[in-house]
Amino acid sequence: MNTPPSKPLVPPRAVIFDLDGVITDTAQYHFHAWQRLAISLGLPFDEAFNESLKGIDRMGSLDRILARGGKVYSPQQKLALARQKNEHYIELISTMDSAQLLPGALQALCAVRAAGLRIGLASASRNAALVLTRLGITRCFDHVVEVAEIERPKPDPEIFLTAAQRLGVRPVQCIGVEDAAAGVAAIKGAGMWAVGIGDAEVLSHADEVISGLDQFDIQHYL
Ligand code: G6P
Ligand code: MG
Repeated sequence: MNTPPSKPLVPPRAVIFDLDGVITDTAQYHFHAWQRLAISLGLPFDEAFNESLKGIDRMGSLDRILARGGKVYSPQQKLALARQKNEHYIELISTMDSAQLLPGALQALCAVRAAGLRIGLASASRNAALVLTRLGITRCFDHVVEVAEIERPKPDPEIFLTAAQRLGVRPVQCIGVEDAAAGVAAIKGAGMWAVGIGDAEVLSHADEVISGLDQFDIQHYL
C-alpha cells in the first residue's frame, strides 16, 4: 500500500478557510440560539445534536431540528422560525470581539499573507461578514464568498470552487481548512488539499487533521 502524501503535490497559492469552528468558536452561539427556539416550540435539543449541525446551513439545520422533533411546518412558518433563530444569534454575536479568535487563527492568517498566498473565506454563514467585523479581521481576506450566491450548500464543493475562482487560483493549488465533515467533503469534492480541524475520526476524509490553527504552519506546504 502506498503511503498517502503529507502535503499537496502542487505548491499551494491560496488557503480557503471556513469560519465557524476554525477561526472562531461560534458553535456555542448557534447552540444557544437554536436551543431557545427549540424550547419555545417544545422540541428536544442538546449539545450532542448541535454537533451534527456544524457546517449545515440555516434552513438545513432547521429542517433537521424539526424532523427530529417530528414537527411539520409550512415554508412560510419555517422562514419565520429561521428568522427568529437568526435574531437570537445576532443578539449573541453582537458582543463578540477579537478575544474570540481561536488560538493561532490571527497568526495563521498573517503567516499565509506573509508567504505571498491568497486568502479566501468559504463559510456557510450569512452572518460571516458581521463576525469578521466583530473579530477585526475583515482585511485579512482577499475574498469572502457571499452565501447568497451559492446554490448548493456544503457538502457540495460549489462554495470552495467559487472561492478559488474569485481568488484566480486553480482548485488544485488551494488548501481548504474545515472543522465539519460536510466541509471536508466539499473541499475534497473541489479537488483541494483538505486540512481538518478537530477529531480525526469525524474528519476521516481530510488529508490531515490538526487540533487547531495553532498547529497550522504554512511553511510546511511551500
Ligand atoms: C456555519 C455553522 C452552522 C450554521 C451555518 C449557517 O456553517 O457551522 O452551524 O448553521 O454556518 O449560519 P447562519 O449564520 O447563516 O445561520
Ligand atoms: Mg465550521
